[in-house]
Amino acid sequence: MCHTLKWGMPLPKLFQLLVLAGLFDFCSGIIQVTKTVKEIAVLSCDYNISTEELTRVRIYWQKDNEMVLAVMSGKVRVWPKYENRTFTDVTNNLCIVILALRLSDNGTYTCVVQKQEKGSYKLEHLTAVKLLIKADFPVPSITAHESPSPNIKRIRCSTSGGFPEPHLSWLENGEELNATNTTLSQDPDTELYTISSELDFNMTGNHSFTCLVKYGDLTVSQTFNWQIRLAARQRRKEESREMERISPI
Ligand SMILES: *[C@@H]1O[C@H](CO)[C@@H](O)[C@H](O)[C@H]1NC(C)=O
Ligand SMILES: *[C@@H]1O[C@H](CO)[C@@H](O)[C@H](O)[C@H]1NC(C)=O
Ligand SMILES: *[C@@H]1O[C@H](CO)[C@@H](O)[C@H](O)[C@H]1NC(C)=O
Ligand SMILES: *[C@@H]1O[C@H](CO)[C@@H](O)[C@H](O)[C@H]1NC(C)=O
Ligand SMILES: *[C@@H]1O[C@H](CO)[C@@H](O)[C@H](O)[C@H]1NC(C)=O
Ligand SMILES: *[C@@H]1O[C@H](CO)[C@@H](O)[C@H](O)[C@H]1NC(C)=O
Ligand SMILES: *[C@@H]1O[C@H](CO)[C@@H](O)[C@H](O)[C@H]1NC(C)=O
Repeated sequence: MCHTLKWGMPLPKLFQLLVLAGLFDFCSGIIQVTKTVKEIAVLSCDYNISTEELTRVRIYWQKDNEMVLAVMSGKVRVWPKYENRTFTDVTNNLCIVILALRLSDNGTYTCVVQKQEKGSYKLEHLTAVKLLIKADFPVPSITAHESPSPNIKRIRCSTSGGFPEPHLSWLENGEELNATNTTLSQDPDTELYTISSELDFNMTGNHSFTCLVKYGDLTVSQTFNWQIRLAARQRRKEESREMERISPI
């Protein structure tokens, strides 16, 4: 039922309007709003109507081909995907406010205002707003883990909360190394990814490793330096701490 909403105007005309909206986009006249997952977006219809007029207009907010919110005879209706996290402010440019943004909210939103005239509804105003939802991975973190065997050190690189699907690689002097236990997971609710990977290396030499995470056309990376002189000093420090701990009270 929700999806068979009548627009109150013949389809070819509606099609023309959408084509015009497309051209508008092409001429870069379209308003763009960039937000991050879980944030709040306010999309303006850029049009005001008086309270008296409210009963004589229909306001539709739609995204691509689905309905988001409608105001008819002064009554607000919100479609299930937007329920409990979307509302409108008719006193402020007929804007819609979407809370707890999801990746799937990414898209172009259209606001249509129709006014009743001589018994039928005529187009009064049309605005399109492009909502871009970003989900950037933070710079990866590299942590040290227990040695799997003498002289071999294990480090792990991980980052989470980004989109689209990432690819991780370990590099030393521009050459790709063999990673172990590379794990990729996706949160079913937020669609955001987590990636982690381990690297084993011979700790008797100096090293500079780069953990590189690529997603879409973006990249984040972290470097891990291992210097045997510093490493030896660190080991001595740990040993002396151990001595303190075993010394009598
Ligand atoms: C609509 O009303 C708001 C609040 O009074 C105002 O800030 C805004 O400029 C108005 N918009 C237009 C398109 O006139
Ligand atoms: C919205 O909230 C109402 C009341 O808390 C609840 O009954 C309904 O299931 C919720 N709808 C969605 C889609 O979460
Ligand atoms: C959001 O939509 C734009 C096109 O409108 C697309 O270029 C972009 O990749 C989309 N982003 C996500 C995270 O889906
Ligand atoms: C990586 O693994 C492949 C196959 O197991 C092996 O042939 C290659 O020598 C390894 N490379 C390094 C740098 O260890
Ligand atoms: C592989 O990595 C995952 C995630 O970091 C970890 O939970 C698991 O214990 C690791 N497995 C092995 C065999 O090291
Ligand atoms: C680590 O490197 C040293 C020096 O190159 C070598 O003698 C040793 O066998 C290596 N250890 C392992 C476990 O690969
Ligand atoms: C490792 O790096 C340290 C500090 O840069 C340097 O003094 C040392 O000579 C290097 N050792 C080797 C084996 O390259």
